[in-house]
Amino acid sequence: MILLDDVVKYYPGDKEPALDHVSLSIEPKEFVFLVGKSGAGKSTIIKMLTREEKPTSGKIMVGGIDYDYLKKRHIPHLRRRLGVVFQDFKLLPNRTVYENVAFALEIVGVSNAEIRRTVPKVLELVGLADKGHKFPSELSGGERQRVAIARSMARQPKILIADEPTGNLDPETSWGIVRLLEEINNFGTTILITTHDEQIVNQLRKRVITIRNGKMIGDQKNDGHYDLDAVRTRIVKRPLAATRRAAPTAEEIRRATNSRPVPTAQAHAHAARQTNAAMPKRKFIQ
Ligand SMILES: Nc1ncnc2c1ncn2[C@@H]1O[C@H](COP(=O)(O)OP(=O)(O)O)[C@@H](O)[C@H]1O
Ligand SMILES: [Mg+2]
Repeated sequence: MILLDDVVKYYPGDKEPALDHVSLSIEPKEFVFLVGKSGAGKSTIIKMLTREEKPTSGKIMVGGIDYDYLKKRHIPHLRRRLGVVFQDFKLLPNRTVYENVAFALEIVGVSNAEIRRTVPKVLELVGLADKGHKFPSELSGGERQRVAIARSMARQPKILIADEPTGNLDPETSWGIVRLLEEINNFGTTILITTHDEQIVNQLRKRVITIRNGKMIGDQKNDGHYDLDAVRTRIVKRPLAATRRAAPTAEEIRRATNSRPVPTAQAHAHAARQTNAAMPKRKFIQ
């Protein structure tokens, strides 16, 4: 599970926040698109999850790990449990496809025998079984992205995060990548994808979270579509007398806006206690 609660992020020196009180939660096995214009804050959300950046305030929990209690030495462990894929692939140019995937396992101490078993399987999964000997420069953009996906899936993460994975690809190749991510999702991996690709979002009709200027302005749970101006809270004009009566309660606001209750600090503490009680220390759960 992924949870951001009231997350605010100011980059050093900036007057405007890159994230402005963002709260969202993603359940295990969900497939979610995160959409917004360039500069809206999509990558900043991803960086909050990978701990590349820390929030200025607010709470983050991923896979049962409360980031408030995350020690520096646990960060590599966390990153191993989260598969991350980027727009520019980030492959090692001097290593073959096979070696790129194998390297992801080597650095976390997987045995050679296990590597020899795993790498062909993940290359098969992404449709590159016969390309293991090629170098990244000998591949098309779509194939490179498949290698990046294979590399991130080799450690069998529970969550795969992709920051504009189709940003450098033509429409047809993009579809191939999205179908592959759907397949991975069908195996039970949670998928979070940031994208600009209106056509893909509108055709897939998955959950769509929209951000604008660092604020979450839409969260369409099902049958989501691409609408960068989607408003989450509709302001209904009422006669002045009615507005004067009494301030609405949190529950009334929630019902009126059809939004999910914002988790409270107590709820987090409770969830954290439950999680900690239920699992061995440092074990990562979905
Ligand atoms: N490392 C950084 N330092 C300062 N400002 C940043 C940094 N990264 C992003 N920003 C700013 O934060 C805002 C959100 O950026 P980003 O999350 O990259 O948006 P998106 O991925 O939606 O295009 C932008 O205004 C951007 O200029
Ligand atoms: Mg970005």
